[in-house]
Amino acid sequence: TRRLTTRDIGAMRRRGEAVAMLTAYDHVMAGLVDAAGVEIVLVGDSLGNVVLGHETTVPVTLDDMIRHGAAVVRGTSRAMVVVDLPFGTATDPDTALRAGIRVMQESLCQGVKIEGGASVAPIVRRLTEQGIPVVGHIGLTPQAVHQLGGYYRHGKTAPAAQALIDAALALQDAGAFALVLEMVVPEVAAEITGLLDIPTIGIGSGEGCAGQVLVVNDLLGLNTSPAPSFARPRANLAEIIDKAVRAYVGEVKATRFAATPAPEAARKGRKGPALV
Ligand code: KIV
Ligand code: NA
Repeated sequence: TRRLTTRDIGAMRRRGEAVAMLTAYDHVMAGLVDAAGVEIVLVGDSLGNVVLGHETTVPVTLDDMIRHGAAVVRGTSRAMVVVDLPFGTATDPDTALRAGIRVMQESLCQGVKIEGGASVAPIVRRLTEQGIPVVGHIGLTPQAVHQLGGYYRHGKTAPAAQALIDAALALQDAGAFALVLEMVVPEVAAEITGLLDIPTIGIGSGEGCAGQVLVVNDLLGLNTSPAPSFARPRANLAEIIDKAVRAYVGEVKATRFAATPAPEAARKGRKGPALV
């Protein structure tokens, strides 16, 4: 099979076929979601929360994204792989271009995603002019969580909705081939979808988008803390893993090892030989 491209994604939008996007951060999961038919695998900077245990995506570095992006690329053969440009790496067109070039050359992915509204359009233009496919990302932009003051729905007032619409059009005009709408009021997300030629890809933004994206751990119930309310898990892998590990621990405890007597010294509670 050949890998899907920006042209395939554009063709899907034109024929009304929704785009299925899912995150992955490692080789095994990437291979599984690719084989199951996802069109775009996103190496999201949600890596920071999901894989690295950070509270936000702010600490994620370009090197983190490249290392995991490369693993995901190696695990996939059909899906397009898009890697997030993390916090602080897309501050202006030249900085973003350098980051984009590194990600493309070192992970061998097929595109990058950049958070931000209309002010990001010149950055998107710079990268696409240099041959780097770009996915936009508006609404809730988690890299700006400290500025936003939390994770909440966007586009609730008429001016806020208009700003999202203007941003969507500006990002499309700048060359983005798809646009993530995160936690956007569903009516506004549907309106933006109808205004754009490129596919909108929603997360917590209703069903009126031209595609959907989820953090794969939220889809699979593979979390140690609660998933966001919009993420309807289709499996409970955390429970499956808990059962399997408990069974393993029990089996280890039951091995015949206990029948092998400890050395004399250990049994008498004396200090054994130094472990050198
Ligand atoms: O980092 C991420 O996983 C994302 C998606 C949730 C859109 O940006
Ligand atoms: Na992200």
